Amino acid sequence: MLHVKNHIAVGLALAVLFTTSTAFAKSTHKALAPVSAGVEMSDDSAEAIKLRSGPGDPVAGKDKSQLCQGCHGEVGISLEGMAPKLAGQYGKYIAKQLRNFQAGTRTHQIMSAIAATVSDDDLADIAAYFASQTKMKGDGHDNELGKKLFLHGDMSRMMVACVNCHGVNGKGKSPGNPVFPVIGGQHKDYLRGQLINFRDGDRGNSPGGVMNIITQKLTDEELDSLADYVSGL
Ligand code: HEC
Ligand code: HEC
Repeated sequence: MLHVKNHIAVGLALAVLFTTSTAFAKSTHKALAPVSAGVEMSDDSAEAIKLRSGPGDPVAGKDKSQLCQGCHGEVGISLEGMAPKLAGQYGKYIAKQLRNFQAGTRTHQIMSAIAATVSDDDLADIAAYFASQTKMKGDGHDNELGKKLFLHGDMSRMMVACVNCHGVNGKGKSPGNPVFPVIGGQHKDYLRGQLINFRDGDRGNSPGGVMNIITQKLTDEELDSLADYVSGL
């Protein structure tokens, strides 16, 4: 019974998610296309950068993001492991997170306070600035358990593989689809922290609660292995 319930929950979450993502994505086909088709979203071409930056002006965003750069790095590569890298992250995802921090569906003492002070126009520019930087990249971590779960999930527990939504390099699905964030090459400590927040229900802002459902089935060891593997991508 529990399995059936989980199955329905994941199904529902996926349905919600793909409905949400089509609002952003150019076509339903793209949003639903299996990533095993081998899409490699490490693309830093001018066209890809423009698509992922969103509506803001990256040039104006450089000055407006001085405060942010203090923690997230001048080009979005932060040095401290608990402050996420923003380099090459989707502009609309960055903006969404700030509004979620402000609304309280995601909480963090510093970010929630800062988010409330940034206007929508400035946020779009700041987001575009970080999004337009060369995408974050890891240095390759051999982690068999993390790799297995990332690529294949575990159907005995109805655990959907990460690759389906985050792409084979953890860089998302397509430059024009900001629903699925870049996670490949992100700091390990930050990734592990977010996975724990999702599992414990402290972070509830993923569409349809999909990340809450997926992380509920993960043990501490699996979660650590995933963070290790993904940070190396
Ligand atoms: C004092 C340090 C500090 C400053 C200044 C700061 N941040 Fe953050 N930011 C953090 C930390 C720490 C987190 C991780 C929050 C968490 O654990 O949920 C974070 C998280 C974020 C996230 C979520 C990233 C993700 O991958 O989900 C975004 C987006 C973000 N910050 C953007 C900004 C922007 C834009 C500014 C400037 C307006 C800014 N931050 C200023 C420390 C800072
Ligand atoms: C069904 C699609 C889906 C699957 C499968 C999925 N994710 Fe996610 N994930 C998302 C979405 C959508 C978000 C963005 C949530 C938001 O808007 O805040 C997300 C967010 C995240 C974040 C937070 C990123 C950040 O910068 O804060 C991490 C980490 C993450 N996922 C890791 C994983 C891992 C590891 C797996 C596999 C165990 C996985 N995801 C499977 C859809 C998915």
